[in-house]
Amino acid sequence: MVLKLNTILFEVAWEICNQVGGIYTFIKSKIPAVMDAREDNYYLLGPYFPNNSKLDFKAVTVTGDCPAGKTILLMREMGYEIHLGYWLLESTRPLVILFNPDSPLIELNKVKAKLWHDHQISSLRADALTDQVLAFGEIVRIFLTTLRKFSNDDQDLIAHFHEWMSASCLPQLHEDKIKIATIFTAHATVLGRYLAPNEYDFYNKLHTYNIQEKAAHYNVEAPAGIERAAALHANVFTTVSQQCAAECEIFLGRYPDSIIANGLSLKQRSSHESFAQHQKYRSMIDEFVKGLFFPGYHFDIRKTLYLFTSGRYEYKNKGFDITLKAIEQLNEKLREADAGITVILFIVSPRPHHSVKADAFEARSRYQHMQKLCRKISSKLGPRIYASVTHDGGSALPDINKLLDDELIQAWKSTVAGFKQKQLPALATHHLINEDEITGFCRQAGFDNSKNSAVKVVYHNEFIERATSLLGMDYAEFVSGCHLGIFPDLYQPWGYAPMESVVLGTPAIVSNHSGFGQFIQTNIPDHEDKEMHILDRKFQSDEGAAYQLSEMLYNFIQNFINNQFIPRSNIKNTAVEKLCWSEIEPRYEESYNLAMVRSQPATSLY
Ligand code: GLC
Repeated sequence: MVLKLNTILFEVAWEICNQVGGIYTFIKSKIPAVMDAREDNYYLLGPYFPNNSKLDFKAVTVTGDCPAGKTILLMREMGYEIHLGYWLLESTRPLVILFNPDSPLIELNKVKAKLWHDHQISSLRADALTDQVLAFGEIVRIFLTTLRKFSNDDQDLIAHFHEWMSASCLPQLHEDKIKIATIFTAHATVLGRYLAPNEYDFYNKLHTYNIQEKAAHYNVEAPAGIERAAALHANVFTTVSQQCAAECEIFLGRYPDSIIANGLSLKQRSSHESFAQHQKYRSMIDEFVKGLFFPGYHFDIRKTLYLFTSGRYEYKNKGFDITLKAIEQLNEKLREADAGITVILFIVSPRPHHSVKADAFEARSRYQHMQKLCRKISSKLGPRIYASVTHDGGSALPDINKLLDDELIQAWKSTVAGFKQKQLPALATHHLINEDEITGFCRQAGFDNSKNSAVKVVYHNEFIERATSLLGMDYAEFVSGCHLGIFPDLYQPWGYAPMESVVLGTPAIVSNHSGFGQFIQTNIPDHEDKEMHILDRKFQSDEGAAYQLSEMLYNFIQNFINNQFIPRSNIKNTAVEKLCWSEIEPRYEESYNLAMVRSQPATSLY
């Protein structure tokens, strides 16, 4: 069966215009390939949060000349807040429909009662986020059901749901026999996220867990129940890695129909280009670092390395604990070696905060202002020195102070006064609402960004985006400017951050517990030569992993010092090249076909 050209595809995810973690990167990077295949017959459905949707969403007027438009108009009349518009991505502008989940029209208790009655999913103890997810799911259900009524009978509809947060209505659509082909993709499992960091030897004990009991223990009965019901009732069920498929089989009771590795939009870069990009963006990071640290004290910026790790805040799952323990050991090794090297570790992870700290906010401009003034002074001084030497005929340098205008001297004094400061640069870029494990560890380990610590930490409490960036760059540029990405994940079904790192040419240390790490291990025998390094998190203790990581970091730095060259990763002629969406997206098209076939009512042969 081949999809009809007018088949409409809805892709539903909590992370549309709303970055929480990797699904945002997944959807954003997949869109251009889908648009190439479908043009207009494609909508993304997500939740509406006014602050998130401000920057990259452009509303359009809704007309009632197509089923989606008719449905939106009708639902608006009913009182739902629905926004139709374009998601303003770099290369394309897909149509998105955003639903405000905080709607007074949704009777949550009725939704919960139905969930219990029809699917035995208990949501009595649901937290505020789960309530919001349930309300969103209910609005999506009303939307799809209404749209089905407005469509011709031969109009094929497909709805692709990503992770449990988008899929609470899937079981009900199935129950109500709504004629829509459904796909559910598990990007992780709820139980996996909770059990991996809390239960010793989780991966080897998967089959031993009492699922109900564990879901109740971690208070995730509703999320885990929705996930399981969505997987069981979807026409097609997929996931992103072997490791996650094994969890799905046990926790969700269904082995996925397909395991589809995650794609990226890859821009092929020569090693020369990759190096040039690194130099360019590294100098922008330099400006930020100088503006942040140099008012207090000085170090040699040419002998400074930028390491980074990033992701949603899951302290153990993302291996933030291992990274911190490793850099503590690294600090000690660098102190003993006394090589004059400085390492800045950026930890990029959004945290609840009041506001950005002025120091971090002004770092770049403070430095740039100082630079500008220096240039102004030198442009004035040069000719004056020359004039004074030729005029006096002497060989000694004239007194510089006498050559400067009062106005410049004043400007210099006030700029210096503004630049110099006594306190140490703060660890966190934002005023955090609460202390967390990262700030707690750094305080205990004595990481206070003081002069005598070779390793300094910049805890960047928002995702890096150009519009709001403290560094004046977007995430890809930041990654290109760094020397090394560190990803010692404990639980990571795929792992976009390490993948983006190596694709952008920045060497990465990747855990063999992440889907991407396993992909590299299996498919790229010479991954070490390509600057994709594997850290063992499977067969050793946390202490062992932290020690191994600190050795890897130290060797990387030694290499940098001894060979005076900057390693860049290289995906050319490796299996990573095959992870571009033009190669991967057709696998989803196959799944859509299969879902269409399976969603047809069974016809009798007699
Ligand atoms: C989830 C997973 C992550 C994966 C992403 C996209 O966030 O935790 O491992 O990369 O989804 O599939």
